[in-house]
Amino acid sequence: MALFRKKPEQKTPQEELVLPRHVGIIMDGNGRWAKKRALPRTAGHRFGAEKFKKINEYCLDRNIEVVTFYAFSTENWKRSEEEVSNIMDLFIDYLEEWLTMDDSKNMKVRFLGDRTPFSDRAKQLMQEVEEKSRKFSNQLNIAVNYGSRSELVRACNLLKNKEGEITEEDISSSLYTAGQPDVDLIIRTGGEKRLSNFLLWQAAYAELYFCDTLWPDMTFDDIDRALEFYSSRQRRFGGA
Ligand code: FPP
Repeated sequence: MALFRKKPEQKTPQEELVLPRHVGIIMDGNGRWAKKRALPRTAGHRFGAEKFKKINEYCLDRNIEVVTFYAFSTENWKRSEEEVSNIMDLFIDYLEEWLTMDDSKNMKVRFLGDRTPFSDRAKQLMQEVEEKSRKFSNQLNIAVNYGSRSELVRACNLLKNKEGEITEEDISSSLYTAGQPDVDLIIRTGGEKRLSNFLLWQAAYAELYFCDTLWPDMTFDDIDRALEFYSSRQRRFGGA
């Protein structure tokens, strides 16, 4: 049942559902999806990249303020050269496509992660996309060469010369997600139940939603189920 499948301006009883402000998505299962079809892993990533665009638009339609997709982790460099270069090509294709999209997408894009190892072309495109999208309001974060531990180490280094005590606010504002609300809901596809170094600080109080769907098979209904799950949770933030 697609509870949210409506034009944003239409009113439904589901308006009462409590929506997360910030959703983090771990897109897992591209490789297994391809294997099931006797296709190369690269095909899984190609379908995965298409699904990323659709799910991102759906989250935008649902007016979720911030969505963060985990596209490439600091650990993903361990994969074969062919697979890494395929993911990089898909990423560059997406950036180039983004720059030709019309303004109606309304997404302010930020890339979370260390850009040092990326090609000059990728770095230039990331900068261009961030600059051109600055005027928009809904936030799309794409985590590339991202790892939460290295993000925290970076934050510590940024703060090392600060006078006085370091506060939680100092750390939050030294992360790649500075200025954004903490993540409320993390969705992980592909059946694994772990965070894999994703938004560990920001997810301190997040609700966690795991589903078996392999990422390229992800549907809007799966997202709705995750949002319903979130809405049904009573968040106490450590209180009674
Ligand atoms: C996890 O599935 C997926 C990745 C590590 C790569 C995700 C990349 C994309 C969706 C495409 C590029 C992204 C953009 C933003 C255009 P897995 O390969 O670990 O799957 P498995 O667990 O089944 O092997």
